[in-house]
Amino acid sequence: MKPQNLASHSTPALHAQGLASGATVHVSGVSKRFQRARLLTQALERVDLNIESGEFVAVVGPSGCGKSTLLKIIAGLLDPSEGQVVIDQKPVQGPHTDLGIVFQSPVLLDWRNILDNVLVQIELRGQDPRLYRDRAKSLLSKVGLSEFENRMPRELSGGMRQRAAIVRALIHEPPLLLMDEPFGALDALTREQMRIDLEKLWLDRGQTTFFITHGISEAVALADRVIVMSPRPGRIEQIIPIDLPRPRDKSVVTSSLFNQYCEQITECFMRHGVIQY
Ligand SMILES: Nc1ncnc2c1ncn2[C@@H]1O[C@H](COP(=O)(O)OP(=O)(O)OP(=O)(O)O)[C@@H](O)[C@H]1O
Ligand SMILES: [Mg+2]
Repeated sequence: MKPQNLASHSTPALHAQGLASGATVHVSGVSKRFQRARLLTQALERVDLNIESGEFVAVVGPSGCGKSTLLKIIAGLLDPSEGQVVIDQKPVQGPHTDLGIVFQSPVLLDWRNILDNVLVQIELRGQDPRLYRDRAKSLLSKVGLSEFENRMPRELSGGMRQRAAIVRALIHEPPLLLMDEPFGALDALTREQMRIDLEKLWLDRGQTTFFITHGISEAVALADRVIVMSPRPGRIEQIIPIDLPRPRDKSVVTSSLFNQYCEQITECFMRHGVIQY
Protein backbone atom coordinates (compact mmCIF):
# COMPACT_ATOMS: atom_id res chain seq x y z
CA MET A 1 0.00 0.00 0.00
CA LYS A 2 1.36 3.38 -0.96
CA PRO A 3 0.76 6.59 0.97
CA GLN A 4 -1.95 8.63 -0.65
CA ASN A 5 -3.09 12.17 -0.20
CA LEU A 6 -6.48 13.79 -0.43
CA ALA A 7 -6.24 14.39 -4.14
CA SER A 8 -6.55 10.67 -4.72
CA HIS A 9 -9.41 10.20 -2.26
CA SER A 10 -12.83 11.61 -2.86
CA THR A 11 -15.64 9.29 -1.81
CA PRO A 12 -16.12 8.84 1.94
CA ALA A 13 -18.68 6.24 2.88
CA LEU A 14 -21.41 8.74 3.70
CA HIS A 15 -21.16 10.58 0.42
CA ALA A 16 -21.79 7.30 -1.31
CA GLN A 17 -25.03 6.97 0.66
CA GLY A 18 -26.00 10.63 0.16
CA LEU A 19 -26.15 11.15 3.95
CA ALA A 20 -23.37 13.64 4.49
CA SER A 21 -24.36 16.80 6.34
CA GLY A 22 -21.03 17.87 7.70
CA ALA A 23 -18.77 20.88 7.45
CA THR A 24 -15.78 21.06 5.16
CA VAL A 25 -12.49 21.89 6.86
CA HIS A 26 -9.43 23.24 5.04
CA VAL A 27 -6.21 23.53 6.97
CA SER A 28 -3.52 25.22 4.91
CA GLY A 29 0.10 25.86 5.79
CA VAL A 30 -0.60 25.82 9.52
CA SER A 31 2.45 26.16 11.78
CA LYS A 32 2.42 26.86 15.49
CA ARG A 33 5.23 28.09 17.72
CA PHE A 34 4.87 28.56 21.46
CA GLN A 35 7.23 31.10 23.02
CA ARG A 36 7.70 31.12 26.79
CA ALA A 37 10.49 33.53 27.80
CA ARG A 38 13.47 32.24 25.81
CA LEU A 39 11.96 28.79 25.32
CA LEU A 40 10.61 28.24 21.84
CA THR A 41 8.58 25.14 20.97
CA GLN A 42 7.75 24.47 17.36
CA ALA A 43 4.58 22.40 17.82
CA LEU A 44 3.33 22.19 14.24
CA GLU A 45 5.04 22.73 10.92
CA ARG A 46 3.20 23.46 7.69
CA VAL A 47 0.19 21.24 8.13
CA ASP A 48 -2.11 20.97 5.10
CA LEU A 49 -5.29 18.97 5.41
CA ASN A 50 -8.61 19.03 3.62
CA ILE A 51 -11.50 17.25 5.30
CA GLU A 52 -14.59 16.61 3.25
CA SER A 53 -18.16 17.02 4.38
CA GLY A 54 -19.22 14.01 6.43
CA GLU A 55 -15.75 12.51 6.51
CA PHE A 56 -14.35 10.74 9.58
CA VAL A 57 -10.68 11.55 9.97
CA ALA A 58 -8.56 10.00 12.73
CA VAL A 59 -5.22 11.48 13.75
CA VAL A 60 -2.46 9.38 15.30
CA GLY A 61 0.97 10.57 16.34
CA PRO A 62 3.48 10.44 19.16
CA SER A 63 2.86 12.31 22.37
CA GLY A 64 3.73 15.99 22.04
CA CYS A 65 3.57 16.10 18.23
CA GLY A 66 0.90 18.79 18.20
CA LYS A 67 -2.37 16.85 17.77
CA SER A 68 -4.26 18.77 20.47
CA THR A 69 -2.72 22.00 19.22
CA LEU A 70 -4.08 21.29 15.75
CA LEU A 71 -7.54 20.52 17.16
CA LYS A 72 -7.55 23.80 19.12
CA ILE A 73 -6.49 25.74 16.02
CA ILE A 74 -9.33 24.15 14.02
CA ALA A 75 -11.76 25.08 16.82
CA GLY A 76 -10.44 28.66 16.81
CA LEU A 77 -9.29 28.33 20.43
CA LEU A 78 -5.68 29.00 19.41
CA ASP A 79 -4.30 31.15 16.61
CA PRO A 80 -1.83 29.57 14.22
CA SER A 81 1.57 31.26 13.89
CA GLU A 82 1.24 30.81 10.13
CA GLY A 83 -1.42 29.52 7.79
CA GLN A 84 -5.14 29.39 8.23
CA VAL A 85 -8.18 27.18 8.79
CA VAL A 86 -11.31 27.61 6.69
CA ILE A 87 -14.56 25.92 7.75
CA ASP A 88 -17.37 25.92 5.21
CA GLN A 89 -15.59 28.57 3.16
CA LYS A 90 -15.22 30.92 6.16
CA PRO A 91 -11.79 31.59 7.69
CA VAL A 92 -11.69 30.74 11.40
CA GLN A 93 -10.94 33.87 13.42
CA GLY A 94 -11.62 33.28 17.10
CA PRO A 95 -13.65 30.48 18.68
CA HIS A 96 -15.82 28.66 16.16
CA THR A 97 -19.13 27.78 17.79
CA ASP A 98 -20.81 25.61 15.18
CA LEU A 99 -19.17 22.44 16.43
CA GLY A 100 -19.07 19.88 19.24
CA ILE A 101 -15.91 19.06 21.21
CA VAL A 102 -15.17 16.05 23.40
CA PHE A 103 -12.03 15.86 25.53
CA GLN A 104 -10.38 12.92 27.29
CA SER A 105 -12.20 13.51 30.57
CA PRO A 106 -15.87 14.37 30.46
CA VAL A 107 -16.56 17.68 32.17
CA LEU A 108 -20.06 17.24 33.59
CA LEU A 109 -21.82 19.45 36.12
CA ASP A 110 -22.02 17.47 39.40
CA TRP A 111 -25.30 19.08 40.47
CA ARG A 112 -27.27 18.31 37.30
CA ASN A 113 -28.62 14.96 36.20
CA ILE A 114 -27.44 13.43 32.93
CA LEU A 115 -30.31 14.73 30.81
CA ASP A 116 -29.80 18.26 32.12
CA ASN A 117 -26.07 17.97 31.57
CA VAL A 118 -26.77 17.21 27.92
CA LEU A 119 -29.23 20.10 27.67
CA VAL A 120 -26.74 22.60 29.10
CA GLN A 121 -25.30 22.81 25.58
CA ILE A 122 -28.65 24.16 24.37
CA GLU A 123 -29.02 26.60 27.28
CA LEU A 124 -25.52 27.97 26.65
CA ARG A 125 -26.57 28.64 23.07
CA GLY A 126 -29.56 30.64 24.27
CA GLN A 127 -32.10 28.14 22.96
CA ASP A 128 -35.09 26.53 24.66
CA PRO A 129 -33.98 23.19 26.18
CA ARG A 130 -37.58 21.88 26.14
CA LEU A 131 -37.38 21.68 22.36
CA TYR A 132 -34.41 19.34 22.60
CA ARG A 133 -35.57 16.98 25.36
CA ASP A 134 -36.82 14.27 23.01
CA ARG A 135 -33.71 14.38 20.91
CA ALA A 136 -31.54 14.24 24.04
CA LYS A 137 -33.46 11.21 25.30
CA SER A 138 -33.23 9.49 21.94
CA LEU A 139 -29.46 10.05 21.72
CA LEU A 140 -28.96 8.89 25.32
CA SER A 141 -30.88 5.75 24.49
CA LYS A 142 -28.71 5.16 21.41
CA VAL A 143 -25.65 5.02 23.64
CA GLY A 144 -27.33 2.81 26.26
CA LEU A 145 -28.07 5.51 28.83
CA SER A 146 -31.86 5.75 28.76
CA GLU A 147 -32.16 4.30 32.27
CA PHE A 148 -29.62 6.78 33.56
CA GLU A 149 -30.94 10.09 32.24
CA ASN A 150 -32.18 11.10 35.70
CA ARG A 151 -29.07 9.96 37.56
CA MET A 152 -26.32 12.28 38.72
CA PRO A 153 -22.85 12.08 37.11
CA ARG A 154 -21.31 10.54 40.29
CA GLU A 155 -23.68 7.56 39.89
CA LEU A 156 -22.26 6.68 36.46
CA SER A 157 -19.09 4.84 35.44
CA GLY A 158 -16.32 6.64 33.51
CA GLY A 159 -17.52 5.18 30.22
CA MET A 160 -21.11 6.21 30.88
CA ARG A 161 -20.05 9.76 31.73
CA GLN A 162 -18.03 9.95 28.54
CA ARG A 163 -21.06 8.73 26.54
CA ALA A 164 -23.08 11.54 28.09
CA ALA A 165 -20.36 14.02 27.09
CA ILE A 166 -20.51 12.74 23.50
CA VAL A 167 -24.29 13.13 23.43
CA ARG A 168 -23.89 16.67 24.80
CA ALA A 169 -21.43 17.43 21.99
CA LEU A 170 -23.97 16.21 19.42
CA ILE A 171 -27.28 17.46 20.81
CA HIS A 172 -27.31 20.68 18.75
CA GLU A 173 -26.55 18.67 15.60
CA PRO A 174 -23.21 20.33 14.89
CA PRO A 175 -21.82 19.82 11.39
CA LEU A 176 -18.37 19.26 12.91
CA LEU A 177 -17.28 17.08 15.84
CA LEU A 178 -13.77 17.41 17.29
CA MET A 179 -12.63 14.67 19.67
CA ASP A 180 -9.35 14.68 21.59
CA GLU A 181 -8.61 11.15 22.83
CA PRO A 182 -12.19 10.77 24.01
CA PHE A 183 -11.72 7.13 25.00
CA GLY A 184 -8.22 7.53 26.42
CA ALA A 185 -9.23 7.00 30.05
CA LEU A 186 -11.42 3.95 29.44
CA ASP A 187 -10.73 0.25 29.72
CA ALA A 188 -10.35 -1.80 26.52
CA LEU A 189 -13.84 -3.35 26.57
CA THR A 190 -15.65 -0.06 27.20
CA ARG A 191 -13.48 1.55 24.55
CA GLU A 192 -14.56 -0.98 21.94
CA GLN A 193 -18.23 -0.46 22.81
CA MET A 194 -17.77 3.32 22.61
CA ARG A 195 -16.14 2.91 19.22
CA ILE A 196 -19.17 0.95 18.00
CA ASP A 197 -21.60 3.52 19.47
CA LEU A 198 -19.71 6.45 17.97
CA GLU A 199 -19.76 4.86 14.53
CA LYS A 200 -23.54 4.41 14.85
CA LEU A 201 -24.05 8.06 15.80
CA TRP A 202 -21.85 9.16 12.93
CA LEU A 203 -23.59 6.89 10.41
CA ASP A 204 -26.90 8.44 11.54
CA ARG A 205 -25.91 12.08 11.17
CA GLY A 206 -22.81 12.25 9.00
CA GLN A 207 -21.16 15.07 10.94
CA THR A 208 -17.57 15.68 9.84
CA THR A 209 -15.41 14.18 12.57
CA PHE A 210 -11.81 14.89 13.58
CA PHE A 211 -10.77 12.24 16.09
CA ILE A 212 -7.43 12.16 17.91
CA THR A 213 -6.26 8.87 19.37
CA HIS A 214 -3.14 7.02 20.45
CA GLY A 215 -4.74 3.74 19.35
CA ILE A 216 -3.68 2.63 15.90
CA SER A 217 -6.39 -0.03 15.62
CA GLU A 218 -9.01 2.39 16.97
CA ALA A 219 -8.06 4.88 14.25
CA VAL A 220 -8.30 2.24 11.53
CA ALA A 221 -11.59 0.91 12.88
CA LEU A 222 -13.25 4.34 12.86
CA ALA A 223 -11.80 6.43 10.10
CA ASP A 224 -12.31 7.08 6.42
CA ARG A 225 -8.72 8.34 6.48
CA VAL A 226 -5.99 8.05 9.09
CA ILE A 227 -3.59 10.99 9.39
CA VAL A 228 -0.21 9.87 10.70
CA MET A 229 1.82 12.67 12.27
CA SER A 230 5.58 12.86 12.74
CA PRO A 231 7.28 13.54 16.08
CA ARG A 232 7.47 17.26 16.97
CA PRO A 233 7.42 19.53 15.13
CA GLY A 234 4.26 17.81 14.00
CA ARG A 235 3.88 17.37 10.27
CA ILE A 236 1.57 15.11 8.36
CA GLU A 237 3.72 12.13 7.58
CA GLN A 238 1.22 9.98 5.78
CA ILE A 239 -2.49 9.97 4.94
CA ILE A 240 -3.99 6.51 4.67
CA PRO A 241 -7.49 6.06 3.19
CA ILE A 242 -9.20 3.16 4.95
CA ASP A 243 -11.21 1.21 2.45
CA LEU A 244 -13.19 -1.07 4.77
CA PRO A 245 -16.97 -1.62 4.75
CA ARG A 246 -19.27 -0.10 7.40
CA PRO A 247 -20.47 -0.72 9.96
CA ARG A 248 -17.08 -2.00 11.03
CA ASP A 249 -18.27 -5.10 12.81
CA LYS A 250 -16.23 -7.99 14.20
CA SER A 251 -15.61 -9.54 10.78
CA VAL A 252 -14.14 -6.23 9.55
CA VAL A 253 -11.93 -5.49 12.55
CA THR A 254 -10.50 -9.00 12.50
CA SER A 255 -9.92 -9.08 8.74
CA SER A 256 -6.47 -9.34 7.20
CA LEU A 257 -6.95 -6.01 5.39
CA PHE A 258 -7.67 -4.33 8.75
CA ASN A 259 -4.42 -5.75 10.11
CA GLN A 260 -2.51 -4.61 7.04
CA TYR A 261 -3.63 -1.03 7.65
CA CYS A 262 -2.52 -1.26 11.29
CA GLU A 263 0.84 -2.65 10.22
CA GLN A 264 1.31 0.13 7.69
CA ILE A 265 0.88 2.73 10.43
CA THR A 266 3.09 0.83 12.87
CA GLU A 267 5.85 0.68 10.23
CA CYS A 268 5.57 4.41 9.69
CA PHE A 269 6.14 4.97 13.43
CA MET A 270 9.03 2.48 13.46
CA ARG A 271 10.75 4.41 10.64
CA HIS A 272 10.68 7.48 12.86
CA GLY A 273 11.88 5.63 15.95
CA VAL A 274 8.53 6.30 17.65
CA ILE A 275 8.04 2.56 18.17
CA GLN A 276 11.14 0.44 18.82
CA TYR A 277 11.12 -3.34 19.21
N1 LIG B 1 0.02 26.59 25.74
C1 LIG B 1 1.22 26.09 25.48
N2 LIG B 1 2.35 26.75 25.79
C2 LIG B 1 3.57 26.26 25.51
N3 LIG B 1 3.78 25.08 24.89
C3 LIG B 1 2.69 24.36 24.55
C4 LIG B 1 1.36 24.81 24.83
N4 LIG B 1 0.48 23.89 24.37
C5 LIG B 1 1.24 22.89 23.84
N5 LIG B 1 2.55 23.19 23.95
C6 LIG B 1 3.66 22.35 23.46
O1 LIG B 1 3.39 22.03 22.10
C7 LIG B 1 3.75 20.69 21.83
C8 LIG B 1 2.52 19.96 21.29
O2 LIG B 1 1.57 19.83 22.33
P1 LIG B 1 0.20 19.07 22.11
O3 LIG B 1 -0.54 19.14 23.38
O4 LIG B 1 -0.46 19.62 20.91
O5 LIG B 1 0.69 17.58 21.79
P2 LIG B 1 -0.16 16.25 21.58
O6 LIG B 1 0.26 15.67 20.26
O7 LIG B 1 -1.60 16.54 21.76
O8 LIG B 1 0.39 15.32 22.74
P3 LIG B 1 -0.38 14.18 23.59
O9 LIG B 1 -0.51 13.01 22.65
O10 LIG B 1 0.57 13.88 24.70
O11 LIG B 1 -1.68 14.73 24.04
C9 LIG B 1 4.28 20.11 23.13
O12 LIG B 1 5.69 20.17 23.11
C10 LIG B 1 3.74 21.04 24.20
O13 LIG B 1 4.63 21.12 25.27
MG1 LIG C 1 -3.02 15.93 23.19
